[in-house]
Amino acid sequence: MSKKIIIGNWKMNPLTLKEAEKLFSGIAKEISSIKKTEVVICPSFLYLEKLKKIRTSKIKLGAQNAFWGEVGAFTGEVSGEMLYNIGVQYVILGHSERRALGESSNDVNKKIKASLEAGLIPILCVGENIRDESHNYFNFVKTEIEECLMGVSKNSISKIIIAYEPIWAISSTPNRKDATPADCLEMVIFIRKIISDKFRKEAYRTKIIYGGSVNEKDAKEFLKNGGVDGLLPGRASLDVKKFIEIIKICEVLN
Ligand code: 13P
Repeated sequence: MSKKIIIGNWKMNPLTLKEAEKLFSGIAKEISSIKKTEVVICPSFLYLEKLKKIRTSKIKLGAQNAFWGEVGAFTGEVSGEMLYNIGVQYVILGHSERRALGESSNDVNKKIKASLEAGLIPILCVGENIRDESHNYFNFVKTEIEECLMGVSKNSISKIIIAYEPIWAISSTPNRKDATPADCLEMVIFIRKIISDKFRKEAYRTKIIYGGSVNEKDAKEFLKNGGVDGLLPGRASLDVKKFIEIIKICEVLN
C-alpha cells in the first residue's frame, strides 16, 4: 500500500529566511521516527534552496507554482526544470488563491504537463466557491478536473495528486465554514469516478487529498472518514506543534 501524504502549504509565509529555517528544522527534528507517512513542505520559492541544505531524509520539498516554459524569455517566472534541478520534487498547481489572481484551468493544464515533463509531482488543487443547493458544485469540480487534465496521458495520472480544497472552508476565506469528513468523502468518491472514467485502471493509484483549515483536532476524522490519501494543511503547517501532530496522527492510522 502506498504511503499517506501530509503536505504543508506555507503560502507567502514566513516573512524571513531565518524564520523559515527555524520552522523547517523544528519540524525535521520531531519526525525522525516517521516511516509510513510522506511529508512534504511547500515554502516560498525564495527559501527552497536554503531549506534543501537542512539535512533530513524525512521531508520532501515542493513549490507553490511552476511555469510551463522550460527556459527563456519569461520574466518573473520559474520553470519546473529549474525547481527539479535544485532538488524540488512536488509542485502545487491551480491553487484557488492563484486562480483568484487570474490563473485559468488552461494555464494549470499547461503547467501540469510541463511539470510532469520536468520530473515533478503535480498537486492539482480543485474546489468550489460555494455549496449551492442545486449541487452545481459537482459540475464545477468536474469541469476543473477535466480542463486541467486535458491531454494528460494514462501513464501520468498515477503521478498526479489531486487536492480537494473547497474555497469556503479555507482558513483565510471570509465567513468560512468547516467542511466535514462527509462533505469530503462525497467529493472524493466523485473525483475518483471522474478520473476512473477518463483514465481507467491507471487512475486507481492516484492520491486524492483534502485541504481547508485542517488542523490537529480534525485531521484524524478526515483521514479516517474522508476517503482521502492525505492532507494539505495551510495555516496549521506554520505551527511546528500542530503540523507534527497531524503527521503523527497520520502515521498511527497508516
Ligand atoms: P488552510 O489550512 O489555511 O485553510 O489552507 C488550506 C490551503 O489552502 C492549502 O493549500
